[in-house]
Amino acid sequence: METKTKKQTAKTTVKSGITKPKSNAASGLTELFEDGLKDIYWAEKALIKAIPLMAKNATSPELIDALNNHLIETEEQVSRLEQVFDSIGKKATAKKCDAMEGLIEEGKSILEETEPGVVRDAGIISATQKIEHYEIATYGTLRQFAETLGLTDAAALLELTLDEEKGADKILTDVAVSAINVEAAEEDEE
Ligand SMILES: [Fe+2]
Repeated sequence: METKTKKQTAKTTVKSGITKPKSNAASGLTELFEDGLKDIYWAEKALIKAIPLMAKNATSPELIDALNNHLIETEEQVSRLEQVFDSIGKKATAKKCDAMEGLIEEGKSILEETEPGVVRDAGIISATQKIEHYEIATYGTLRQFAETLGLTDAAALLELTLDEEKGADKILTDVAVSAINVEAAEEDEE
């Protein structure tokens, strides 16, 4: 009976292609949490360089304002992440986030493919909202991990940033709905 169980376990491991975890669930979650923090720390720092490029290429004053305001928030989010690392007794470390690198690259190609004006603005909003949605997903997960791990201070700090990202996303939607997309469509018709 015991042999049968062992065989079944071995078979499952091979089939899934996932190697057996070395640690227990709690330390595994801590590792995921810390990796996620390093990843988003890199992403926020990359955004400090990318947002001004988007703002410089935007035309709509509302969009430029929204981007500049979010740049200020992003700088605060970097310091807030440093507080999160501090709260868990870890040094703030950045680890390259391939997903954010790809999203920023996509934004840059929109700039290359469009002329300044409403269509480029609509493209900038689309690229920036994809970035915001990635951040909302990331901060939502990290806050949940922090709560599960009983890291109350970290969870509260991550929730603040999560709310800011949701706010930035909403402002971008408002800018798009109020002016840019309508004008971009009119330009297409001309
Ligand atoms: Fe952010």
